[in-house]
Amino acid sequence: MPRRFEEDKLVVASHNPGKIREIAELLSRFPVDLVSAAELNLPEPEETGTTFEDNALIKAHAAAKASGLPALSDDSGFCVEALNGEPGVHSARWAGPDKDFARAMRNVEERLQMAGALEEDRRRAGFVAALALAWPDGHAETFDGRVDGIAVWPPRGDQGFGYDPIFKPDDHERTFGEMSADEKHGLDEYGDGLSHRARAFKKLVDACFDG
Ligand code: IMP
Repeated sequence: MPRRFEEDKLVVASHNPGKIREIAELLSRFPVDLVSAAELNLPEPEETGTTFEDNALIKAHAAAKASGLPALSDDSGFCVEALNGEPGVHSARWAGPDKDFARAMRNVEERLQMAGALEEDRRRAGFVAALALAWPDGHAETFDGRVDGIAVWPPRGDQGFGYDPIFKPDDHERTFGEMSADEKHGLDEYGDGLSHRARAFKKLVDACFDG
């Protein structure tokens, strides 16, 4: 049985404003006080894992230990098939120290061009997320989510963050960059979630928050 979240305060183990905003939106229906690792000035641990789940656990355990509060982390990335899954766990790194995602998206496109990946079926891509909820006593629960689609060029839309403007999910005409936050989450009354993060969140909420 997964451990239930019974506390009233939760650290969002992230320094990424786009992610912190989405996590706050996804948890908005629960009466829990959120504080981010950035606000608490917690150090950012080195993400030495080779999988999204490993890195999510590193971040959640570090924040729970440093704050003495339960902590929720998200490790996620953009995975392009023709690039052997890259940038993947290196998605943030591709933007460099200035967090320049225009450059990171250009880099994806240049590599796709070099690979001769011009047709849609050669441009399969997806976002992957792993969430980890860790408690100060060392217990943790993890959940994953994925959304598949294609990498488009040029970038479209200025909503969301990161690689959103070059990702068009299957069965949709617009990129994540052209969608409102609610549309990207896809969690209206009957929705199972559209984004990788919302899909992982649905599992987390079912296991640890609802019921
Ligand atoms: P992390 O903080 O190491 O997990 O870095 C994840 C990186 O993946 C982010 O900085 C973004 O570049 C990218 N990423 C993850 N989720 C999303 C998303 O929902 N939209 C766009 N980019 C994302």
